[in-house]
Amino acid sequence: MTREQLRRRLEFHQDLGVKTVYRRACATPVAHAAEPEAQAEACATDTLEKIRADIGDCTRCPLHQGRNKIVFGVGNEQAKLVFVGEGPGADEDAQGIPFVGRAGQLLTQMIENTAKKEGIPLLRRDVYICNVVKCRPPENRTPEPGEMEICGQFLFRQLAAISPKAICVLGGTAVRALLQRTDGVTRLRGQWHRWRDIPVMVTYHPSYLLRPYNQDAKREAWEDLKKVLHYVYD
Ligand code: SF4
Ligand code: URA
Repeated sequence: MTREQLRRRLEFHQDLGVKTVYRRACATPVAHAAEPEAQAEACATDTLEKIRADIGDCTRCPLHQGRNKIVFGVGNEQAKLVFVGEGPGADEDAQGIPFVGRAGQLLTQMIENTAKKEGIPLLRRDVYICNVVKCRPPENRTPEPGEMEICGQFLFRQLAAISPKAICVLGGTAVRALLQRTDGVTRLRGQWHRWRDIPVMVTYHPSYLLRPYNQDAKREAWEDLKKVLHYVYD
């Protein structure tokens, strides 16, 4: 948090009549600390709100040039399951929400229909959904390694802040961002991997499943999803 953001935050709380601001998991109040910035960092509990504020009107990588809206992420901040895609497409860029186009509708169906079939009460809004890069790459090209590296820092912070029980990685770009593996999705899918201490299931990206000649992959993706849902929600 910059000094300016912290000042605004404190002003906001003071406007509400809150005399002293306590941060979660931080024993010492920060409002009257000598070095508020240093202390905020020292006992920082990262939140999605803070990460979004840090992104701001980001120009840290070249993808900012072609974007309309930054697509940060959507869903439950306390989700036990997070889905990670590649990057926004045209519909996502227009709306500022991940996975709302054709691939997104398939993902939503996959989550909700699989859960229903398996007797797990779960809707899209109960999970958290985000992407490796937050701005739409021109002509939907794959994000460059440099762009993934820069924007990936925000993804890591989102995952650490939510700290879900499992992560479901959708497609090769998210694999490269989160796992130290160069194998393709076909080899890695259906098995458990790990990002830091969090179990990761790899499966196909829904855009790939939309192609008519990938119907076997569709069945496999359903199996992968079943595995994740039972692990997380049983
Ligand atoms: Fe910033 Fe990420 Fe957008 Fe690049 S893709 S401009 S790092 S928000
Ligand atoms: N594809 C992605 O990887 N992410 C989205 O948000 C939409 C399509």
